[in-house]
Amino acid sequence: MMPDSPQFVPAVRAALLDWYDAHARALPWRVGPHERAAGVRPDPYRVWLSEVMLQQTTVPHATAYFLDFTRRWPTVADLAAVADGDLMAAWAGLGYYARARNLLACARAVASEHGGVFPDDEAGLLALPGVGAYTAAAVAAIAFDRPANVVDGNVERVTARLFAVETPLPAAKPELKRLAATLVRDDRPGDWAQALMDLGATVCRPKAPLCDRCPLAFGCAAFRTGDPGRYALKTKKVARPRRKGAVFVLRDGQGRVALERRPDRGLLGAMLGLPTSAWDQTGAGVEAAPVPADWRATGEVEHVFTHFALTLTVFEATGQGDFIWTDEDEAAQALPSVFRKALRPPRSSRASGAASG
Ligand code: ADE
Repeated sequence: MMPDSPQFVPAVRAALLDWYDAHARALPWRVGPHERAAGVRPDPYRVWLSEVMLQQTTVPHATAYFLDFTRRWPTVADLAAVADGDLMAAWAGLGYYARARNLLACARAVASEHGGVFPDDEAGLLALPGVGAYTAAAVAAIAFDRPANVVDGNVERVTARLFAVETPLPAAKPELKRLAATLVRDDRPGDWAQALMDLGATVCRPKAPLCDRCPLAFGCAAFRTGDPGRYALKTKKVARPRRKGAVFVLRDGQGRVALERRPDRGLLGAMLGLPTSAWDQTGAGVEAAPVPADWRATGEVEHVFTHFALTLTVFEATGQGDFIWTDEDEAAQALPSVFRKALRPPRSSRASGAASG
């Protein structure tokens, strides 16, 4: 069936919603289609929290964090009352730390300015600190069944295939958003948004889409081309630049390791970290150590950030100094991934034969 047929939108919607009724993933923040039909309403706090977490990581990775957060802070008022440092530690490993600070700012605004109740439409949600267009649309649709157009990476791909959009991403974003909007209706907007996400994650996968299981194959223009995996087209990325540096693991000999609070602004802002050199093209060595000690190079760690790839030489020593001395196991929990790797390097990244503590 072609998109210009008057039957296209109703047929696509019915097919996808029927598929969702049978195949919706059970997710800890989700009210499934059957419960929803029986009148169960999702908790907006859980919807909002999950959407913020899912913007930067996959469902399997976010799930553990979501369960931890909601166990420790069951309501938005509980989250609003958390000390900044505790929140940053709980967020460690999720990345994009500015988002953790926005999360807290938003929780505090909802708690103090809205009596602990989330605004129930897109405009009200968008006015909250740290809530962008995607999150506002997702929470409006999923928590409040508003007919918002929820477009994440999965939805972009499904839409690009359904309509065989030849414009590459990211230039195609406005076109994909406009096309996705043609499918949104007042009927079951929360289920619709989540059905598209689930289809994108499990059937209309980035590589090797499972078209033989797809409820939308009958109307999919990309499927008709015979090469659905070609969509969504992407403009070729420029290679990530590489930066280098040194990272310093200083132990006190009693199970504690030296940490520093990073500056508020910039990469990993306000997070705890191991002392490091600057990260640049040339890369520093032991001369950048924060205190004199018996530093030994013990290995290298690799970490990929959004805008660059980083190689750090790990130096280890025992010593003293003016640091935030933290139990090493605790530190391994509370640090961003790049520092976790330096503290607990995978075996293969250790320099062979290095003596280490
Ligand atoms: N990805 C982002 N939000 C999601 C949701 N609510 N359900 C499943 N996957 C998602």
